[in-house]
Amino acid sequence: MDCRSLVIAPEATSRLSADAVLLLVVGESLPPAVDAVIGQAVAEAQAQGDLVLKPGKQAYLGRVPGLKAPRLAVVVAKDGSPKALKAAAVSGLALLKGLAIKHLAVQIAGAGEATAAQAEALVQAVTDAVYLYRATKPSAPAAPVLAKLTLLVGSKAEAATATIGLVRGLAIAEGVTLARELANLPGNHCTPSVLAAQARKLGRSHGLRVEVLERRHCEALGMGSFLSVAQGSAEPPKFIVMHYQGAAKTQAPLVLVGKGITFDTGGISLKTAGEMDEMKFDMGGAASVFGTLRAIAELKPKLNLVAVVPATENMPGGRAVKPGDVVKSLSGQTIEILNTDAEGRLILCDALTYAERFKPAAVVDIATLTGACMIALGGVRSGLFSPDDELAAALLAAGESALDPCWRMPTDDEYDEALKSNFADMANVGPRAGGAITAAKFLQRFTAKLRWAHLDIAGTAWKSGAAKGGTGRPVALLTHWLLAQAK
Ligand code: BES
Ligand code: MN
Ligand code: ZN
Repeated sequence: MDCRSLVIAPEATSRLSADAVLLLVVGESLPPAVDAVIGQAVAEAQAQGDLVLKPGKQAYLGRVPGLKAPRLAVVVAKDGSPKALKAAAVSGLALLKGLAIKHLAVQIAGAGEATAAQAEALVQAVTDAVYLYRATKPSAPAAPVLAKLTLLVGSKAEAATATIGLVRGLAIAEGVTLARELANLPGNHCTPSVLAAQARKLGRSHGLRVEVLERRHCEALGMGSFLSVAQGSAEPPKFIVMHYQGAAKTQAPLVLVGKGITFDTGGISLKTAGEMDEMKFDMGGAASVFGTLRAIAELKPKLNLVAVVPATENMPGGRAVKPGDVVKSLSGQTIEILNTDAEGRLILCDALTYAERFKPAAVVDIATLTGACMIALGGVRSGLFSPDDELAAALLAAGESALDPCWRMPTDDEYDEALKSNFADMANVGPRAGGAITAAKFLQRFTAKLRWAHLDIAGTAWKSGAAKGGTGRPVALLTHWLLAQAK
């Protein structure tokens, strides 16, 4: 979004030349600090029975005498938490949907001084509301008009605090938008080569070092697992590495690894036709890594970050890997591929081994890895797996503060036994039961030298149904985690 935000003082509310004012009320009465013109309008609406100041209630008041902005919408939030204010803003934006609003002013009433987290939550709500997919849909309406957001505050100190949230929110919003856009692109428009080009573009615009390993480089290195997935596809695989340097070269970097399956047919273990189109989102992990890198490159925290994205299609074909084939991973461990549809772990394991060379402080992989995780957690929380309590706690906390939550799942060694194979060091699948956990245990076999966590975003990276599309998750979670590491 091209949403430039600013912050101003409250006495101007009624005289502000915005296209709409969105009033978010916390509590069951308006505090006296609210502009008299707005106070009057709210009181009249209450008297007429058009508005009740109770959580969840809302009203569109249209033109209000004395208010320069031609529209006023009021939404009562559940409480003053960033989460509740975001939900209220989402409702308010729905009330204003379709109206010609270029400049939106938001005022929060009854929650005390605005915090950075509240301001950030508002930006999230606005960016989500204005995103529109256009890339392959020429008939889509012209780009959304909302381009300016003003948050009304009461003092310079409050403005300074809110600005911190707005700046962080905007950087994350741009990363979320990038991730959504990439995830939404159809498989024929978002090939591994297109992802590599995207990485180079991000490198040029944000001063990042970018390397792309071609198939022959990966062969020379010994990435037999990654390449086994790629061998069935006519699209050349790309192993993408991006570097953000914000601290001394000697400081150990954090590494993000994103699953970049640009289309997952299942391979020879072919998926059924129903909803197979959604497998274009199987690079949602990669998309979130691109988005996070973008947000970090904007915010420039003092840390070093490496992003690793193994990118390939998973296709059936005359050259495709077959069930029962045994491949040798970059780590040297061999894998019996019992199911070619469990391909995510096959590309991630080589990427995790590759990450060792950066001697990282921590590695987090992000993947649309298992249908089982979607069944376990639905679309609300991403699955978090890590044997490291401290790292897990930091990621959980980042998810809460970013309103992009995850939930820790177990990693007991008993689950690992399901991966035993008679013909290789391990099989790539276990039984159906506990499928998200065995997938994580498979990855864990490649992390002996790492401080590692895994996020399974199969349920959270996109929405099915009428509002089908990428969500941009977990860019906010990852950005919050990284920013916390720089402190
Ligand atoms: N990309 C899928 C996982 C997935 C499924 C994500 C549905 C989002 C929605 C992954 O590659 C896959 O196919 N996993 C298999 C693993 C199984 C063969 C052990 C699955 O979940 O069915
Ligand atoms: Mn698959
Ligand atoms: Zn997949």
